[in-house]
Amino acid sequence: PNNFSLIGFARKPMSDESFRQSLLDGCCSLAEIGEVDPALWRRFSEGIFYCQGEPGDPQAYQRLAAGLERLDKGHGTKGNRFFYLATPPSVYAEIVGHLGASGLARHPEANKPWTRIVVEKPFGRDHRTAVELNRKILEVFAEEQVYRIDHYLGKETVQNILVFRLGNGIFEPIWNRRYVDHVQITVAETLGVEHRAAFYEQAGAARDIVQNHVMQLLALVAMEPPATFQAEAVRDEKVKVWRSIKPIRPEEAACCTVRAQYQRGALNGQKVPGYREEPGVAPNSTTETYAAFRFAIDNWRWAGVPFYVRTGKRLAERVTEIAIQFKYPPQLLFNRDASNPIEPNLLVLNIQPDEGISLRFEAKEPGKTSQTRSVQMQFSYRAAFGAQIRPAYATLLLDCIRGDATLFSRRDGVEATWALLDPILEGWQNLGQPPLAAYEAGSWGPREADALLAAEGRQWRKP
Ligand code: BG6
Repeated sequence: PNNFSLIGFARKPMSDESFRQSLLDGCCSLAEIGEVDPALWRRFSEGIFYCQGEPGDPQAYQRLAAGLERLDKGHGTKGNRFFYLATPPSVYAEIVGHLGASGLARHPEANKPWTRIVVEKPFGRDHRTAVELNRKILEVFAEEQVYRIDHYLGKETVQNILVFRLGNGIFEPIWNRRYVDHVQITVAETLGVEHRAAFYEQAGAARDIVQNHVMQLLALVAMEPPATFQAEAVRDEKVKVWRSIKPIRPEEAACCTVRAQYQRGALNGQKVPGYREEPGVAPNSTTETYAAFRFAIDNWRWAGVPFYVRTGKRLAERVTEIAIQFKYPPQLLFNRDASNPIEPNLLVLNIQPDEGISLRFEAKEPGKTSQTRSVQMQFSYRAAFGAQIRPAYATLLLDCIRGDATLFSRRDGVEATWALLDPILEGWQNLGQPPLAAYEAGSWGPREADALLAAEGRQWRKP
């Protein structure tokens, strides 16, 4: 819309014009929007400005405030603003403090312009720091103004999890311990650490992916139906799931978790270095690039159903999926011979890259009397809807502008997920248990992760 405007605020000296050019370059190279219409860009870029400032300099915020006032008058933005912290997390609290001190963080009032703040992940590095960051932000902003981003929630296929479960009548009755044997959640990447060693060395797979993306996926699969589709009702149900997960104590980390690091290997025929050989990584680094966990949810719906989750960098394929394996039929009438066992039903929600849903079931092999074979029923997003799927950030930033916080993390949610991870990380760090395992780049992860499931007579899917 015409009354949209944007101010870039950063340390680097830059003119409005060069900032506009850098955004245009970014749009052309990254945004998958193809050609940029020059007339449209010209109109849009007239609302883009730049304000140079150090995050700790109070005067910079005065300049920012003056710039925002000018926009309200000249661009019709009417005082509605959101601040988006795409900065190192170490300066979040400082920036929020200055936004408050300079009068930029107005509290919400009915029929008055709104102010919101978007905070990127990582939100803290453990429970204590997350609580502290929440406290500092909430000294300045009200919770309803705070939008904690987890970009997984902006993915269409992630939003479809609840639609699939609750927009259909046939799945929910079997979505529980009576029918489900176990659930597997996989977030596998082929990427290595790229240019992010400085961040990743301090984070590792558990903090980078499990505390946020994996926990969100788990909650969407396991939560109870909310009473309404309002932000608070949906987020209440998710928090209940995290609070029902049985905490893994430090001394239990050895039997319920696996951590590992990638070693040299090959991906798509290309040799790739080991993690410790990557630029910026310490030669004796113990940061995990792979993590697997066995979670138990202690509630009526899920008692006795393990949720196995795994994530890793430099794995064989880029795939995010949730696989729900159902129990065997109570009596095995077919395929009695052990060489061709019957397979249990499997429902796979493919989050990416082949967005869709598949259901595996047994079918009679033609001709043979009692032989069956597994077949798939497949739904593909692209085939059904054709349209290009909107990038997650587009959805999330638009929701923030509209004031819909459903797809953002709430204070209690962030704290609940950290509370689950803390004792595991303590077991890893203080007890050294389980020891850091190794896996070859381009493989499906360490042997130890296979053993985690084999101990319970199960195995990981090869997506
Ligand atoms: C980010 C992590 O949150 O998610 C990255 O910091 C990871 O390490 C990325 O690569 C994965 O996101 P996606 O959308 O590619 O699955």
